[in-house]
Amino acid sequence: MKHYDIIGGERLTGNVDISGTKNAAVAIIAAALAVDGVCYIDNIPEVGDVTTIMEILTCLGALITRVAPNAYSIDCRDVKPDAVARVELYGKCRASYYALGALLGRFGEAIVATPGGCDFGYGSSGRPIDQHIKGFEALGADVEHSGGWIRAVNNGKKLRGNRIYMDVVSVGATINTILAAVFAEGTTIIENAALEPHVVDLANFLNKMGAAVRGAGSSTIRVYGVDRLVGGDYSILPDQIEAGTYLCMAAATGGKITVRNVVPRHLYCITSKLSDMGVRIEENGDCVTASSARKRLRSTNVKTAPYPGFPTDMQPQITTLLCIADGTGKVTEAVWDNRFQYLEQLQNMGAIVSQSGRDAVIEGSAKLTGAPIIATDLRAGAAMVIAGLAAEGVTRISDVWEIERGYEDIVEKLRRLGANITIHNDIEVVETSDIAGGGSRAEGGAA
Ligand code: EPZ
Repeated sequence: MKHYDIIGGERLTGNVDISGTKNAAVAIIAAALAVDGVCYIDNIPEVGDVTTIMEILTCLGALITRVAPNAYSIDCRDVKPDAVARVELYGKCRASYYALGALLGRFGEAIVATPGGCDFGYGSSGRPIDQHIKGFEALGADVEHSGGWIRAVNNGKKLRGNRIYMDVVSVGATINTILAAVFAEGTTIIENAALEPHVVDLANFLNKMGAAVRGAGSSTIRVYGVDRLVGGDYSILPDQIEAGTYLCMAAATGGKITVRNVVPRHLYCITSKLSDMGVRIEENGDCVTASSARKRLRSTNVKTAPYPGFPTDMQPQITTLLCIADGTGKVTEAVWDNRFQYLEQLQNMGAIVSQSGRDAVIEGSAKLTGAPIIATDLRAGAAMVIAGLAAEGVTRISDVWEIERGYEDIVEKLRRLGANITIHNDIEVVETSDIAGGGSRAEGGAA
């Protein structure tokens, strides 16, 4: 177990190269299970969730080779229909359920253990997967979800294309249904599909491998069944959420950060809110700069929504900014039942926040003070880093494995921007540090 110590108060300035999208990478790597050839995939972020999904594929019989930093070849030609990975791996990574769609589509049968996932208010029942099941059943599969396993079968036969209306806009169900439909006979039409950039990235990957997925990025996606995916090369899109997180760090520290290698239009939903708060945003080719040189931030209201709305995966980061902005702001979490577990950590640092159901009210102008705090999940962990950078004194963040599930090289990237951040393992803390620890939880969970 590791923790970070951050001494706040440094203005962050400089450039940061944004990694590939974690949530696209985990889907695309799983999609390689459907490919009867070798995939060369570049711009893969080397983060915890990617390691987990690669371990799952390896257990299933894939041959994965790191050919260069952030570049891998994945060969799933020897994967068998009845392949199953170790149960605990499925529980470590939400995206493990993409193996179900990919294998069901390719072999007409598949089994995975129930995926884990950050508990955004769903308790022991876990985050719902009814729309995934609806998609598979519409394509002709029988799906059984019991005893910790999900099994989808069509007697080893090809699925049949169908029209599917998603009752909710779901990234995961859209991706899983596309994966299952790639080899289905005829045409599959997915209505009310998710529009997120990583859904488009997954579709582009599949098309490069020989699939015929049309309309990704709109709410109607058509998948024309093909016989085989043959392999090829692909480069993953830059991470909208990682970029947005660094832009928030510029705002929180009165600094100036340029995120490089981004798709600026994917960031509009984030940068427009930062502009509302008084942050200066400049766009130049594939770079976006946020600067807020010692200017006070203004409060605003934020409501999360599926893309192109304000991303739920940026909600903890913007809430943290609102804590130090002038005025009162309201944040409404409209995607997940409860994604405010981290508010208590901010309160420990002096934030004045209250929650009522899906709304949080943030009284601004708080003077944040360093404290021992916990990364309660991946994006909450990123928000704690923002809080630590803006706070006076030392902030110790424990359970940073959550952060490292999705942010590549975050400590080094922050240091190059001028942050005073150090990484420690907990044994060193006991022996060398005089700062009280913040407690920790067992490693697990997943985005
Ligand atoms: C993906 O999760 C992301 N994870 C999440 O990012 C992100 O918060 C979420 O999309 C929304 O953008 C990955 O891509 C690995 P959903 P996913 O299905 O696919 C409801 C991060 O921090 N729903 O789009 O699991 C669900 O309850 C993570 O990187 C159903 O009702 O999310 C939620 O309210 C956290 N039935 C809404 O849809 C279903 O069958 C959106 O969920 C599926 C979902």
